[in-house]
Amino acid sequence: MATPRTSPEVGGMGHSIKRKEDPRFIRGKGNYVDDIQLPGMLHMDIVRSPFAHAKIVKIDSSKALQVPGVLAVITGETLKQYNLHWMPTLMSDTQMVLPIEKVMYQAQEVAAVIATGRYAAADGVEAVEVEYDPLPVVVDPFKAMEPGAPVLRTDKEGKKDNHIFHWEVGDRQATEKALGGADVVVEQNIYLPRIHVASIETCGCVADFDRVRGKLTVYMTTQAPHAIRTVIALVAGHVGLSEEKIRVVSPDIGGGFGGKVPVYPGYVIAIAASVVIGKPVKWVEDRMENLQADSFARDYHIRAKLGAKKDGTMTALQIKTIADHGYADAAANPSKFPAGLFSVCTGSYGFAHAFAEVDGVYTNKPPGGIAYRCSFRVTEAVHAIERMTDVLAQELKMDPADLRFKNFIPPEKFPYKSVLGWEYDSGNYAGALKKAMDIIGYPALRKEQAEKRKKGEFMGIGISSFTEIVGAGPSKDFDILGIKMFDSCELRIHPTGKATARFGTKSQGQGHETTYAQIIAEELGIPASQVEVEEGDTDTAPYGLGTYASRSTPTAGAAGAIAARKVREKAKKIAAHLLEVAEDDLVWEVGKFSVKGAPQKSKTIQEIAFAAYTNHPQGMEAGLEAVDYYDPPNLTFPFGSYICVVDIDRGTGEVKIRRFVAVDDCGNIINPMIVDGQIHGGLTMGMAPALMEEITYDESGNIQGGSFMDYLVPTAMETPKWETDKTVTPSPHHPFGAKGVGESATVGAPPAIANAVVDALSHLGVKHIDIPITPEKVWKILKEKGAAE
Ligand code: CDP
Repeated sequence: MATPRTSPEVGGMGHSIKRKEDPRFIRGKGNYVDDIQLPGMLHMDIVRSPFAHAKIVKIDSSKALQVPGVLAVITGETLKQYNLHWMPTLMSDTQMVLPIEKVMYQAQEVAAVIATGRYAAADGVEAVEVEYDPLPVVVDPFKAMEPGAPVLRTDKEGKKDNHIFHWEVGDRQATEKALGGADVVVEQNIYLPRIHVASIETCGCVADFDRVRGKLTVYMTTQAPHAIRTVIALVAGHVGLSEEKIRVVSPDIGGGFGGKVPVYPGYVIAIAASVVIGKPVKWVEDRMENLQADSFARDYHIRAKLGAKKDGTMTALQIKTIADHGYADAAANPSKFPAGLFSVCTGSYGFAHAFAEVDGVYTNKPPGGIAYRCSFRVTEAVHAIERMTDVLAQELKMDPADLRFKNFIPPEKFPYKSVLGWEYDSGNYAGALKKAMDIIGYPALRKEQAEKRKKGEFMGIGISSFTEIVGAGPSKDFDILGIKMFDSCELRIHPTGKATARFGTKSQGQGHETTYAQIIAEELGIPASQVEVEEGDTDTAPYGLGTYASRSTPTAGAAGAIAARKVREKAKKIAAHLLEVAEDDLVWEVGKFSVKGAPQKSKTIQEIAFAAYTNHPQGMEAGLEAVDYYDPPNLTFPFGSYICVVDIDRGTGEVKIRRFVAVDDCGNIINPMIVDGQIHGGLTMGMAPALMEEITYDESGNIQGGSFMDYLVPTAMETPKWETDKTVTPSPHHPFGAKGVGESATVGAPPAIANAVVDALSHLGVKHIDIPITPEKVWKILKEKGAAE
């Protein structure tokens, strides 16, 4: 790893400085939405549907209104008076806020109770009587597409089926031809089930409408406060909520992972209630509401075909996918990409031909499709290609590492234009895999595996050499509801040489207060400890699109560096004035300008900052500050190679991860310790869907996995020791050569684990197992193959 350019006291890039935000978190002094208490604040709780599809015959609020403390019951009819009973989704579909005619999924919001206390609100919810008339339920997206299936979105005039969209990329004919001419073609169905982000903090808000000032303040667990403010203004402008009178504050967030990007009905109801009643209204979901009604991801049914020559050279890839979006397309994707960035499905390999198509389908499930710790459907794409690579290796009886080396895009081919359209900025895939193999001792493990097989023991080795695609913009391709995807920094240097930097993003645990300060420290030499970072308040921070999809470093981080460079330009003029030399006679070393050839004649950034307010040149504006709205020229393409070793218990089917080596490459690193933290967390979140997590529905649409009793989130007990290392391949277009990293591990880990389990069982003829690979699934396979103990 490169030696940092700055001293530890300055703490610029490459220093593992401790997180500035942690003292408040570890002392319990964080300020989350549920910590917010306002005078006269009311509480809201929500009545939810027990049925997955039913007509609403009647809602009787009379008993609820008699519960002490209950002030109001809000229904779809109430919201209809303000035309707020429907809202747009991020994908320009529509979604009910509260229903009038029918409910479309179990746990859907049916009515809201406003009360003076949280418990009174809950008692009120119990007392609301709703009469339903059940309708036929559609949970299977394939059945939803069959002729004669009940049409779910009867609200859409003329809609005759449950199809949402068809999207395709690549050349279908050329790909089919190439598959036809391939020596070997492997085919596989791969299902990535519905999972949930399961952030420790659930969703919630406090909506506070000040009738006198006409100003609405919403404290909200959102990853994208500015975009939310615009959406509120667009959706509720007609009831008098005007953007300059709306303030969205995103306080400390207890995990977002993509689940806190969308607008959920609870937010709209709480805002409407506060505007109508004129008092602050708090709504915070409980765990089961959170698990049952929002933040769903994946649910991709993939059919993949991979063609190759006899020697293993991959020639063509074809993927057909059915995406189960539940009852509304509320996915959080950039507008032009209904299947997100799934077209990165050719992965790290050089394909001449590829074609991918995705069809979105409505079912009676909550709206799904959020970008759960992956840059818009990249987890699904990577799982498909990394699994298919192993399926091919098995077919060809080739070592999966050799097959990968044979097909990697070589470093000298970058920037590399993939056949599906992306321009990969930089990469050294073979370098990362080689390093991972060296660390884990790959040849010795293969030998051990062969010996174990002779003894009837099941040990597997799985590789995943993934490519990520993160950092949306560029704005020419990326927008959400028409708002272009750039990000921003406003940097102000105070007279005493300290700084405040505000960003359009919003950390949810990633450590932006630390790493953004390090970027400013690197560029200006002001110690990171003296740079105060602020995000998440639309009244003060510059407009930005928020934090998700590992975009903060590639976009807002870049804006921070550029804003600091703008400050440095002005600082140079002031230094020239102070030192009485021409600007061209000055050289910059971290933290000061000095005169060329006379290094003793210099001015530090702190001296310059003071002069900016006390002794600036005649005719120059006072002050030292800059704003940058950064529109990246391209995405960044972090990558990595992961190797997982598993042992399988023949008696129980349990998969034990014995070793897991993760070699990541996110270009130049700001804070190595924070990056390690991102990888550690991501690996655990990648292991979770690989082995444990899944949400399914029975035929009536009842959710299975709606509480932490059934939805298995890994704890420290199940988490193995992760072994991490890095390679560094800077991004050529990012101002300081960084790529995003937040989601690499959640994307890369599941196929490494799945490949390891299949590898352990491959000699029994097992070719594929869908995740989560639970002990039950493995045990059934062992039993079927006569190998269970
Ligand atoms: O958008 P999000 O913050 O989730 O993702 P990110 O840009 O990948 O950054 C996650 C964390 O890792 C942030 O604190 C970054 O500043 C840090 N990071 C880093 O130190 N070096 C990199 N090359 C990339 C990210």
